[in-house]
This record gives sequence, C-alpha cells and structure tokens, in this order.
Amino acid sequence: ESSEKQTIFKAYSLAAKLYQHILFQTDYGDPAREYMKRRGISSETAEVFELGFAPDSWDFVTQFYEKRGFNLALMHKAGILAQRDFDRKYFDLFRNRLIFPIADSQGKIIAFGGRILNDAQPKYLNSPEHPFFNKSRILFNLHRAKNEIRRKRQVILFEGYMDVIAAWEAGVRNGVASLGTSFTEEQAKIIKRNADQVVICYDSDSPGIEAAMKAAYILQAAECQVRVVRFEDGLDPDEYIKKYGKDKFIATLNQSLTVTSFKMEYLRKRHDVSDEQERLVFIHEMLKQISSLRSAVERDHYLRLLAEEFHYSLEALKEEQRKLFYQQK
Ligand code: GTP
Ligand code: MN
Ligand code: MN
Ligand code: MN
Ligand code: MN
Repeated sequence: ESSEKQTIFKAYSLAAKLYQHILFQTDYGDPAREYMKRRGISSETAEVFELGFAPDSWDFVTQFYEKRGFNLALMHKAGILAQRDFDRKYFDLFRNRLIFPIADSQGKIIAFGGRILNDAQPKYLNSPEHPFFNKSRILFNLHRAKNEIRRKRQVILFEGYMDVIAAWEAGVRNGVASLGTSFTEEQAKIIKRNADQVVICYDSDSPGIEAAMKAAYILQAAECQVRVVRFEDGLDPDEYIKKYGKDKFIATLNQSLTVTSFKMEYLRKRHDVSDEQERLVFIHEMLKQISSLRSAVERDHYLRLLAEEFHYSLEALKEEQRKLFYQQK
C-alpha cells in the first residue's frame, strides 16, 4: 500500500476518534448529545456506529492537526479539511455536525457524513471523493451488516444514515444506505455478491417513491429479487419507527410488495382511475410494467388482477400486453 493511502486512512481514523472524543467526553459535545437524545439515538448505538461531533468552529480540528504536525495539504486532499481560496488557509470542513463515519467493506473509515444540528443548509454534508473514496461504490454500514446479510441472503436498502441506525436499534441488522446520491449499478453488484433479495425501504414521500422505482430496476438488472416497502403518510423509516414502534416496523417490512404491485400503487396515485382517459393511461403503464416480467405466470397473475378490477376482458389485456412486449424488444 502506498504511503499516501496509509496517511489518508490514518487521518480518517484519527479524525473519527477526535470527533468521537468531542461528542462523549467534552462539554463541546453537549448540543450533539442533546440532539441525539431528541432523535432517540442511544449512547450504545452511537458507539457502535462510532458517531462523533464536529464543533461549531472554523479551526478546531485544523488546530488539532497542526499541533500534531500533520500534513494539512494531505488532510485537505483527503477531504477532511477545506481550503480558503484567497489566502490558501485550511479550515474545518465539518462544523456543528453530528458525524457519521463511512467505512469501506473492510471497516476502514474513508469518509464522513455530517448532519447539521440546526436547520441550516445543507442538511447533510459528505466528504468529497478522494483517490480511495468513490461514492458510487460504497454502501453505508455494509461492513457491519455483512454477516447478517450473508446469513439471511437479504439486504434492506435505506435512503438515509438515520434510517439504517433506527432500524439497527429496532433489531434489523442487515440494513445499508447509499450516500445521498442515487443508487448505482456498482452498488447493486456489490449487493448481489452477498445476497439474493433486496428489500427497498426508502422514504414514502414522492422523491423517495421515484428513487425506489429507479433502484428497483437497477437491482433487477443485476438479477436481485426485489421487494419494496411503503409506509403510511409519506413517512421515512426512522419516523415510522419513532411513531409506531419496532414491532409494527418489522411487520411492515414483512409486508413488502413486489415491484409490480408497488408500481401499481404508485400509478394509482398519479392517475385518477375513475376518469376514463386517465384509467386508460394507467392500464397502458401497467401493461408496460407487466411486459417486463420474465415469468409468464407472473404476467398472467397481474393481467387477471387488472381484468377483474377494471372490467376489461383478459383477452384484450393480453393482446395489448403482447404488442407492448414486441415493441420493447
Ligand atoms: P434526517 O432529516 O436527519 O432524518 O435525514 P434523512 O435521512 O431523513 O434525510 P433525507 O430523507 O432528506 O435524505 C436522505 C439521505 O440523503 C440522507 O441520509 C443524506 O445521505 C442525503 N441527503 C439529504 N439531504 C442532503 C443534503 O442536503 N446534501 C447531501 N449531500 N446529501 C443529503
Ligand atoms: Mn430531503
Ligand atoms: Mn427524503
Ligand atoms: Mn428521510
Ligand atoms: Mn429522516
């Protein structure tokens, strides 16, 4: 391993320890411990996830490194420090943020996610990419969840760090999340190496639902079995656990939908099926979805559902669906 790589890893592990120390052992950590309490993160869980706190200061960490003779330029290259344009001075990138260390699949910390404690923007700040950190190839919590994932051959995919952590506290220990960017083919391949089934557990607001559909297609292309979870009232998993408790959360996970059923619910919300014109658009979209299914039995199942609910003849639906199938080829 190159010495630059070693130094970057060392810098991250040192920074993580410093942030952790601030959170748990100092008065500077008070606001963050208050925040954790409000969000229902126990100290045990905070320790498991090696959470930390970056104080509301421009030079707290920078001074720490300077005193210890660290190469600040390298810390900047690693994405731990930022640099001011006009005088090239280094300063703390993460300020007033709860720190979520992000590790590679071996458990080596290679980046941070930081959640602001107040309502300033951006809500989350992630380390910039560096030579050993490529966002599209990392899944938050994979190294901790790996054993459980392999045992169950199943991954629960979340949108946010907070969701992974809340699920962990609820006893769901095969959860991972992408890093605030959309889910990628590379991430799907990594999952496929460790599991057969993926349960997508994104926020049930409209961006979350859109993102879940996209992730579902990427995962299916990687030959994963995909299920999708929906929560009431547009909640995200963390909010749902807080509101309804872990038993109901786990029950809801177990009632996940197939991608086709999920798409049907989604399309129902977008099209008013009591309107004739809209209903035809809805049916057309559903037939496209059904055409993408490989199993004839599954296709038949959903065609029958549509025929029954909307009073079309099964024959007519089949004929349309076949047409769409050949158009897609
Ligand atoms: P909380 O408000 O703390 O519960 O966060 P959340 O996880 O519910 O946030 P949200 O659903 O808005 O976003 C999901 C994920 O997207 C987060 O965990 C982040 O990884 C990412 N994200 C959200 N907001 C931002 C942002 O402003 N900037 C960046 N880079 N990522 C973000
Ligand atoms: Mn948001
Ligand atoms: Mn969201
Ligand atoms: Mn959310
Ligand atoms: Mn949330």
